[in-house]
Amino acid sequence: MKIAILPGDGIGPEIMAQAVRMLDVLREDGLPLELEYGVLGGAAYDRYGVPYPDETARLVRAADAVLLGAVGGPQYDTLDRPLRPERGLLAIRKDLGLFANLRPAILYPELANASTLKPEVVSGLDIMIVRELTGDIYFGQPRGMGVTAGGEREAYNTMRYSESEVRRIAHVAFGIAAKRNRRLCSVDKANVLETTEFWKEIFIEVAKEYPEVELSHMYVDNAAMQLVRNPRQFDVMVTGNIFGDILSDEASMLTGSIGMLPSASLDANNKGLYEPSHGSAPDIAGKNLANPLATILSAAMMLRYTFNRNAEALRIEAAVKAVLGKGLRTADIWEEGCEKVSCSAMGDAVVAALRAA
Ligand code: IPM
Ligand code: MG
Repeated sequence: MKIAILPGDGIGPEIMAQAVRMLDVLREDGLPLELEYGVLGGAAYDRYGVPYPDETARLVRAADAVLLGAVGGPQYDTLDRPLRPERGLLAIRKDLGLFANLRPAILYPELANASTLKPEVVSGLDIMIVRELTGDIYFGQPRGMGVTAGGEREAYNTMRYSESEVRRIAHVAFGIAAKRNRRLCSVDKANVLETTEFWKEIFIEVAKEYPEVELSHMYVDNAAMQLVRNPRQFDVMVTGNIFGDILSDEASMLTGSIGMLPSASLDANNKGLYEPSHGSAPDIAGKNLANPLATILSAAMMLRYTFNRNAEALRIEAAVKAVLGKGLRTADIWEEGCEKVSCSAMGDAVVAALRAA
């Protein structure tokens, strides 16, 4: 089990250090894990002058899975666009063909008060957002900035999906829905955009292969509204790259604790890149304040999806729940009556719970 570890920028190295401790425990217990470190994003720019260097590409191509901390920081915001950390993330997704992005939004009962929504609206929330990750307006050509025939400056991007791109994400989404509550909501803007009208047509075709799954369709503006009005109506949501980027941030905040949410980005063979849904939080970097749980839970997703080790994944998830149950909280999820702990102390507690399990 070859894992490429990319700590990245900002809080990335500190949260990754805690996730690696969990993998070390599992290795001591006999899991054949091999970890190798690399750089991505700003850290890669600092060392090699580019956000996704060849050294990193070679490392991640040879690995079975990639565990990533986070990328980005204000010191890189003024770099030429192709050199910015975010471009490294887009490049690794495209290079590894990681077209299926799974972003669960789960409300832990212990954290019911963390949401800005009323507890009765979000309690029991468990949504899986499936976002297409290597197509759409993020990658469509032509793109650029230029000058019109009339001499005015302009900029343009292209929303574009091929049939095979839509079909493969549809199969992933139906497959996931079939294993959950068998309800799949495909989000589009078919009333305006041909690209997503096409998306919807393909989903209706693929649905015939999954009679056990109930497929529904929703316009993206309505979906944004329904997510805050009545989020529990959703089981699995599937959508394109740009809508998925936006809706997954919205859904994560329903849980009130983006510091808790892992994500997986998978290729056609379940090779995957796993990362917390949150960013690099430069404001608290290096202060031992960050919440490592999303990264720890990303490692659990890795064991489940790439390595088919559901028992070990459940063991990590149970350890996290046990620690929350004991009232330990990092600053981002802290509330009155709980014990505020640092990033590394949270790691200590999860390691102890993992050893005890
Ligand atoms: C995400 C992020 C990225 C995206 C950025 C950092 C390029 O927002 O993973 O959701 O837009 O995909
Ligand atoms: Mg985003």
